[in-house]
Amino acid sequence: MDKKQLRRKILKKRDALLPAERRRKSLDIIKTIIRTDQYVKASHIMLFSSFGSEPDLSPLLKEIIKDGKHAYLPVVVKGDKKILPVEVTGLYGLTAGPYGILEPDTQKYKDVTPSLLELIITPGVAFDPARHRIGYGAGYYDRFFASLPHKVCKIGVAFDEQLVQSVPKEQHDIALDLIITDKRLL
Ligand SMILES: Nc1ncnc2c1ncn2[C@@H]1O[C@H](COP(=O)(O)OP(=O)(O)O)[C@@H](O)[C@H]1O
Ligand SMILES: [Mg+2]
Repeated sequence: MDKKQLRRKILKKRDALLPAERRRKSLDIIKTIIRTDQYVKASHIMLFSSFGSEPDLSPLLKEIIKDGKHAYLPVVVKGDKKILPVEVTGLYGLTAGPYGILEPDTQKYKDVTPSLLELIITPGVAFDPARHRIGYGAGYYDRFFASLPHKVCKIGVAFDEQLVQSVPKEQHDIALDLIITDKRLL
């Protein structure tokens, strides 16, 4: 199956999960994230606003703030196909970006942010046990990871239904360090 076919198949499966099921599974994912050494040790953490049927990480954002850590959400710059991490202190003041995903105000973007990041909670469409990832097909995260000045821990999060035996990978695809689903940590 090529990337395009796999995206279609897995998104259909994810969209079929009931909202209550997605909420419960999202909480299970968050419980596992906050128990990892990588989370405990990190002070600057980027996560994402849930889009469509993605896991809902808003309780994690609250936890990060409660734990006295810094939280960042991505802002998409469509022309440059770039992601900018912007610090947030809560879920307020977010507005829909070019893909309809809730984003913080770009005015608050500071150039120094990327070098501070220690952990990036990464969305995706499908993942495999070798921790390879496919996204929606625009390569934003591959480009973002490649642009970072240092090695950052990257945790892919997904519902267990998004795990497949093997995802197709190309030269530019950057593998993750951990995958966390509602059922396992890989
Ligand atoms: N580091 C990079 N520099 C330039 N182009 C990139 C980079 N990473 C990915 N791309 C481009 O982005 C496009 C989409 O990448 P792909 O891996 O298929 O998407 P996704 O990771 O969202 O599933 C590809 O055409 C690829 O060439
Ligand atoms: Mg890719």
